Amino acid sequence: MNKIKPTTDFTKVKPYNQEEEKTVQLARMFNTISDKYDKFNDIMSWGMARVWRKQSLLALKKYNPKQILDIAAGTADMCIKSYQYLNPEHVTGVDISAKMLDMGRIKVANANLTDKIDLEVQDCSNLTFANESFDAATIAFGIRNFEKLDESLKQINRVLRPGGHLLILEMNEPQKGLLFKGYQLYTKVFVRMTAKYLSSDKIAYDYLTASMHAFPNGERLIEIMKKNGFKLNKYRKFTFGVCSMYLVQK
Ligand SMILES: C[S@@+](CC[C@H](N)C(=O)[O-])C[C@H]1O[C@@H](n2cnc3c(N)ncnc32)[C@H](O)[C@@H]1O
Repeated sequence: MNKIKPTTDFTKVKPYNQEEEKTVQLARMFNTISDKYDKFNDIMSWGMARVWRKQSLLALKKYNPKQILDIAAGTADMCIKSYQYLNPEHVTGVDISAKMLDMGRIKVANANLTDKIDLEVQDCSNLTFANESFDAATIAFGIRNFEKLDESLKQINRVLRPGGHLLILEMNEPQKGLLFKGYQLYTKVFVRMTAKYLSSDKIAYDYLTASMHAFPNGERLIEIMKKNGFKLNKYRKFTFGVCSMYLVQK
């Protein structure tokens, strides 16, 4: 049984307890699983996360962004792939988990991109960058973790130049039918087995599936983005709708 109670209020889906701020708990949780995250992500998505990152990033190519901000950068996959697919001048990655970024720095160094990619500990709801600093921002598998969603979207809007793009990639829980049943079984059995196999923080994996259940997707998320100053450019579902891409513009 999942110890995290099912709820539709995503701000209440917290990994460890209801008292502490969600962001504080998440930084701790991602610090704990940072050395296992890439393997878990690959196993859980059957390697599809790499394909989804690439396909979504290619939607930005025609806008030729030169300064890119990757939010919830984690272990820097999106930063590295942004650089490789979009050839910008610079990519800045931010995340609340210092240890995820430490893993990312190793990958950035191995890719010989230390002068092209910077990684900084920052909370998306409180970015320190000047207004209109970036041509594009990206968030892959991160937005459903944001404790302060409206504030975060407002901050992204502030740091983007007028006409700049925000690309979001996020997992969805199938809504109904066989896919829904299959998905529930998959998360209950497979996620647990994977967490056990990686002998990592089991609560973290429960959180990752519970947060998917609670987070608004599709039209609901698009409405929230519109409310915070963005207009929709492109919405695309990948792989039977288990992952969605939203491209919105300031
Ligand atoms: C599932 S990981 C995604 C990592 C990476 N983008 C990828 O494609 O694999 C989610 C990341 O969001 C970060 N995160 C959660 N809340 C955040 C916030 N408020 N601001 C910045 N990063 C945050 C976590 O620390 C974690 O590294």
